[in-house]
Amino acid sequence: MKKILVIHGPNLNLLGKREPEVYGKITIDQINKKLKEIAMKNKVDLEVFQSNHEGEIVDKIGNAKKACTALLINPAAYTHTSVAIRDAILATDIPTVEVHLSNIYSREDFRHNSLIAPVAKGQISGFGLDSYIYGLEAAIKLAKGYENKT
Ligand code: DQA
Repeated sequence: MKKILVIHGPNLNLLGKREPEVYGKITIDQINKKLKEIAMKNKVDLEVFQSNHEGEIVDKIGNAKKACTALLINPAAYTHTSVAIRDAILATDIPTVEVHLSNIYSREDFRHNSLIAPVAKGQISGFGLDSYIYGLEAAIKLAKGYENKT
């Protein structure tokens, strides 16, 4: 069975309590539950990982190539700063979908630049839980080797 790796970056463990006016009241457990339901329906395996530490995320991506066929990542604050996560995605060449709960382009200027987006297949930003749902749908298609080019 194809396996998709889901990575949640720093502070996403605090969802539900963290700036609910920006990120809503949804918790990371609720997001993961929804993603697992979708994965089951589509007959793909899901591995879910959250870390507040850049190096742990880099290690996870670096070791993912053997077992995982696509990566769904919300790099959170590392979106805007991490050359190391970008390089890990390049090094493993794993098809990647970047997601954000909030619309990073309607927020502070420093959030407008993603170091990850240029090495991802695409980015979904601004739809709350639905960003993850749309992102997982895209990652499933990538994992199954289907890319919609139309
Ligand atoms: C975020 C947006 C980032 O700018 C921020 O640092 C986060 C969450 C989002 O999901 O909207 O931690 O990735």
